[in-house]
Amino acid sequence: MAHPDRFLLAGVMGWPVMHSRSPMLHNYWFKQHGLAGTYVPLAIEPAGIGPALRALQPLGFAGCNLTIPHKETALAFVDEVADTARRIGAISCVTVRRDGSLVGTNNDGYGYIESILAEVPGWRADAGPIVVMGAGGGARAVVLGLADRGAREIRLINRSPERALGLAQEFGAPVHAVAWEDRHAALEDAAMLVNTTSQGMVGQTPLDLAIERLPRHALVSDIVYIPRETPLLRQARERGNPTINGLGMLLHQGRPAFRDWFGVTPDVTPELRQMIEATL
Ligand SMILES: NC(=O)c1ccc[n+]([C@@H]2O[C@H](COP(=O)([O-])OP(=O)(O)OC[C@H]3O[C@@H](n4cnc5c(N)ncnc54)[C@H](OP(=O)(O)O)[C@@H]3O)[C@@H](O)[C@H]2O)c1
Repeated sequence: MAHPDRFLLAGVMGWPVMHSRSPMLHNYWFKQHGLAGTYVPLAIEPAGIGPALRALQPLGFAGCNLTIPHKETALAFVDEVADTARRIGAISCVTVRRDGSLVGTNNDGYGYIESILAEVPGWRADAGPIVVMGAGGGARAVVLGLADRGAREIRLINRSPERALGLAQEFGAPVHAVAWEDRHAALEDAAMLVNTTSQGMVGQTPLDLAIERLPRHALVSDIVYIPRETPLLRQARERGNPTINGLGMLLHQGRPAFRDWFGVTPDVTPELRQMIEATL
């Protein structure tokens, strides 16, 4: 809860961390809600994550977000792991409870689904087959979010087949692995295509996927947000597909974190989105 007599503190732990847009996001919300507080980037080396998390409570932090490379390793250092975070296998947010104990949650899947609903309010996960490219950390959150939302068929495709097969086995129906070689054909009759690989991100090559067979009404989403329009999204937009980039996922995952730390649920406003877009 927010206290008028206390300076509110939270941050993001990562290595590297200075690229993170989370400070801009949470500091906007402090200001918008008239709260005295700050959210800082915390450069924590991999070996330092345990001590850093234990320092949150004595330093008076309400909690923190976690980014690369801490999302999985932090599981060992919190006192309780929420069900969704356990299923995803990673923590994106830590909250310090009144008794000083730490609870780890994961808001990435929530943020992803909310970002889609914000752009396409009538969107339904069960509208047809969904093709998900990638089987890394981002994919785990997205696939669980889609499955929990009622997706009936998720075709999971990854360059390294064992990772997609393992994830399909772990999550069970509706997720099934499709071979990388069959990725172009797997787009036929899909209602949605999601890129969760790092391909298309600034400094990376574009995703190697021919989208000619994808129906033109299919929604194409990319969780990458730098650049704002990846080569995949540009190609999809130019042939008439509706597209959504990954910025909304980042913005929306912050809302439950801010609420858990400070007792106020903030909004993703057009002004906030524009402010962050201007830095990408
Ligand atoms: N919008 C958001 O809030 C948000 C949240 C999380 C992540 N992201 C973004 O999502 C991307 C992935 O992040 P992550 O945490 O899931 O990373 P990750 O766990 O390292 O997974 C990377 C994924 O990309 C695939 N990949 C890498 N190089 C490839 C290539 N040359 N060809 C085909 N596939 C390739 C990997 O396949 P292999 O298994 O074969 O290596 C794997 O599936 C990053 O760009 C990240 O910034 C955005």
